[in-house]
Amino acid sequence: MADVILETSHLTKEFKGFTAVNDVNLRVERGHIHALIGPNGAGKTTCFNLLTKFLEPSSGTIHFNGRDITTARPAQIARQGIIRSFQISAVFPHLSVLQNVRIGLQRGLGTSFHFWKSETSQSRLNERAMGLLEEVDLAKFADTVTVDLPYGRKRALEIATTLAMEPELMLLDEPTQGMGHEDVSRVTDLIKKVSAGRTILMVEHNMSVVSGICNKISVLQRGALLAEGSYEEVSRNAQVMEAYMGTASGALEGAH
Ligand SMILES: Nc1ncnc2c1ncn2[C@@H]1O[C@H](COP(=O)(O)OP(=O)(O)OP(=O)(O)O)[C@@H](O)[C@H]1O
Ligand SMILES: [Mg+2]
Repeated sequence: MADVILETSHLTKEFKGFTAVNDVNLRVERGHIHALIGPNGAGKTTCFNLLTKFLEPSSGTIHFNGRDITTARPAQIARQGIIRSFQISAVFPHLSVLQNVRIGLQRGLGTSFHFWKSETSQSRLNERAMGLLEEVDLAKFADTVTVDLPYGRKRALEIATTLAMEPELMLLDEPTQGMGHEDVSRVTDLIKKVSAGRTILMVEHNMSVVSGICNKISVLQRGALLAEGSYEEVSRNAQVMEAYMGTASGALEGAH
């Protein structure tokens, strides 16, 4: 039996009669990098908003680690270990990279803005923050003002601040969006690296990223699950080719 960390059952979201997410049964296995793909407007981000409770589902249920979280509040979801990257992204552009990770750590501890804490806890916080920066290969940028970081490095910092919250399940919405080739491969390697001991659900349009690191792929189209499986299985699926290209040939191949 697969070890399922996240499961949605008949998950549905309607906006004034328009069904953005339609009866979605998603099963994310523990330890996987699971991709959610689909054409623009397919409902991927809406799905993420339902999982983090930014939006209330119209119907259906969400279970995390076997627990029903359908009616949980966003803060409770985060405490249970579901962390979405942009939620806690580099929100303080004029603080240093290190300071941003420290704030992430303090949030994780529930002691944000308790700046009166003792010297020892401050230096322990610094050590842990530097450890996270090393993990995402940003140690040499520790004292850089965040706004001055190159774009790809900012996304790496977002991942570090996400890790600071000790996620069991990381949700990444288009982590390589807007990046050049070099940054794409650096961030892809980074996602692979930080997936160790964690589970990742990511929305990603770049098919070479998806084929390179994802164990399983779910394809959404007009709010509904169209296909699921490995990259090889999904890219051979005629309906998937049709959804992407409007033709039953060539679909995801060109993306390699
Ligand atoms: N708050 C809302 N009110 C009404 N319609 C919405 C709302 N949010 C999303 N939608 C609609 O739901 C559909 C799915 O949108 P969503 O943003 O989830 O797509 P997506 O798969 O993330 O697309 P993209 O690849 O462009 O990011 C779209 O048609 C969108 O216009
Ligand atoms: Mg989206």
